[in-house]
Amino acid sequence: MVSPIQGSMASRFHLLIFFSLFSYISHSKANTSFRPRALVLPVTKDPLTQQYTTHINKRTPFVPVKLTVDLGGQFLWVDCDKSYVSSSYKPVHCDTSECKLSRSQACTVTCFRSGPRPGCNNNTCSLMPDNPIISTSTSGDLGQDVVSVQSTDGSRPGPSISVPDLLFSCAPTSLLQGLARGVRGMAGLGRVPIALPLQFTRAFGFAAKFAVCLSSTTGAVFFGDGPYVMQPGIDAAKFLTYTPLIKNRVSTAGAYFKGDPSVEYFIGVKSIKINNEPVALNASLLSIFKGNGGTKISTVNPYTVLETSIYKAVTNAFVKHVKDIPRVAPVAPFGTCFNAKNIGSTRVGPAVPQIDLVLQSESEYWRIFGVNSMVNAGNDVLCLGFVDGGLNPRTSIVIGGHQIEDNLLQFDLAASRLGFSSSLLFKQTNCGNFNFKPNA
Ligand SMILES: *[C@@H]1O[C@H](CO)[C@@H](O)[C@H](O)[C@H]1NC(C)=O
Ligand SMILES: *[C@@H]1O[C@H](CO)[C@@H](O)[C@H](O)[C@H]1NC(C)=O
Ligand SMILES: *[C@@H]1O[C@H](CO)[C@@H](O)[C@H](O)[C@H]1NC(C)=O
Repeated sequence: MVSPIQGSMASRFHLLIFFSLFSYISHSKANTSFRPRALVLPVTKDPLTQQYTTHINKRTPFVPVKLTVDLGGQFLWVDCDKSYVSSSYKPVHCDTSECKLSRSQACTVTCFRSGPRPGCNNNTCSLMPDNPIISTSTSGDLGQDVVSVQSTDGSRPGPSISVPDLLFSCAPTSLLQGLARGVRGMAGLGRVPIALPLQFTRAFGFAAKFAVCLSSTTGAVFFGDGPYVMQPGIDAAKFLTYTPLIKNRVSTAGAYFKGDPSVEYFIGVKSIKINNEPVALNASLLSIFKGNGGTKISTVNPYTVLETSIYKAVTNAFVKHVKDIPRVAPVAPFGTCFNAKNIGSTRVGPAVPQIDLVLQSESEYWRIFGVNSMVNAGNDVLCLGFVDGGLNPRTSIVIGGHQIEDNLLQFDLAASRLGFSSSLLFKQTNCGNFNFKPNA
């Protein structure tokens, strides 16, 4: 489907001149009198699919486009086959600086489908949009269009601000399979120049940082540095502790170009403790070897997924620590469930042993309390919210949505570190508490 880049040196030269002029013209359209310190996107959890969705205003005229948030996604991709109408859409041609930025190694020389239209132009930089929920990748053309996002001072939304030439990939309608109702694509927040965080950073010159604060109802993604103020006036950024983000040299995307590194967010979990007692694990699974193993964070997995031997060790250790709580028949996809009537409750959820992901040293850990470890399966059943990822998963530990809800996670791309808050419920707030009402 993708063909090698073609074109002589001479035509390449002309293209480059043309495109640098073009981007100069379009950048001059941007409103430079207002520089946001950060941007904010509201995020809603879809109860049916457990996906975290957001809306971005896109195209000319603007329409709200609903997207599933993919923390480890490579870029924004949207369905261009069905009713993509926009006077500001531009294809990104091969051999342009934008195409280079995307790390594409492919070019759609000729689009034989019904074109020209968004997603079908000749001589267009070609990418491989990925839907990790159905483990499917396709090819798609790189394009640019205007988007508009709310700015924020960290405590409230401010004026909406546009990025005239946001880079994104088109995808066929079929790639929307498995996504929540009304969703038209995925918002990739990965560690790569054309994912949304670094594009916003380049457009507005704010810090190369973004933060996610998800909840079971509504939450937010912030682009730029804190404060990230949750009602009643609590700056959640104050509670962050930091751990290095680990590089994985081999892509973990569904499809990728040769030599691409992973754009997902890996952290160095060294061991796991339950009630301060280490769980015996095969430590080699926790490090990354030839792209396999290690621990990453994902918003497209509703629950944390553990390689089988880790899953067994963690659940057995947990059960040992709660001997006095009666077990009940497991409710899929979980394997360990309890009678909720025998479990007390605390400010941070069910009173169960805390689970610590121990990081670069014994004193650095991400503590998981009952509200993040246990899942209410109805009928007075509480289940340990981890699932068995099988014997040879690509990544040994995938920290999923339920475990990061009401935790602030800040991804500092310049310093290559993750700031994590543990449960904000301890701090008398939560991720649903950002005040999305603009100033009157
Ligand atoms: C630029 O943004 C500022 C702040 O929102 C606004 O007051 C101003 O009118 C805008 N200027 C243009 C030319 O759009
Ligand atoms: C692409 O080029 C081919 C051959 O020159 C032409 O037939 C076709 O109409 C063009 N398609 C688009 C989408 O411009
Ligand atoms: C530990 O995991 C590694 C990597 O999967 C595997 O090669 C090794 O056999 C495992 N060791 C034990 C004792 O299970």
